[in-house]
Amino acid sequence: MSTNQMPIRICFVCLGNICRSPLAEGIARQKLKALGLEDRIEVDSMGTGSWHIGHAPDPRSQAICRAHGIDISAHRAQQTTRANLSKFDLILACDTQNYADLERLTDSSRLDLLMHFAPGATQKSVPDPYYGSEDGFETVFNMCEAAVDGLINEIRQRYNI
Ligand code: 4NP
Repeated sequence: MSTNQMPIRICFVCLGNICRSPLAEGIARQKLKALGLEDRIEVDSMGTGSWHIGHAPDPRSQAICRAHGIDISAHRAQQTTRANLSKFDLILACDTQNYADLERLTDSSRLDLLMHFAPGATQKSVPDPYYGSEDGFETVFNMCEAAVDGLINEIRQRYNI
């Protein structure tokens, strides 16, 4: 289907942009492609911190994604700035600290918590898995997948696509 409409742009944000947000981006990218919506809804990810700029995703994030048929190896970490966030329609923070940091870089009308979109979720934050075990990455994957499913449903309703 061809359309002249501008794509809806969504950015997932965590701290390092090597564990949680590239994983959420990869899940979203795969689901949008399966729905044929990859040109209508564009996804990206960034981190609020600078330590990992230019780095590939953490091997544990790559592994859990690979186990689900998703290849995130090409992503390179980038840091949020006021300028590079300005093009997004929706900026989704993985945890409440990311949200607080983003409030200093963007207006709150475009900002939300990723877990806000996970139906029935009781946790506001996707836990930071960096210093934990492999198990943590499975938890992160499952939480991100539930949130991304809810997000895509919400966006499709909101924009009638
Ligand atoms: P992420 O995980 O925010 O999910 O990418 C982290 C990655 C690196 C660090 C912290 C969290 N770090 O402190 O370097």
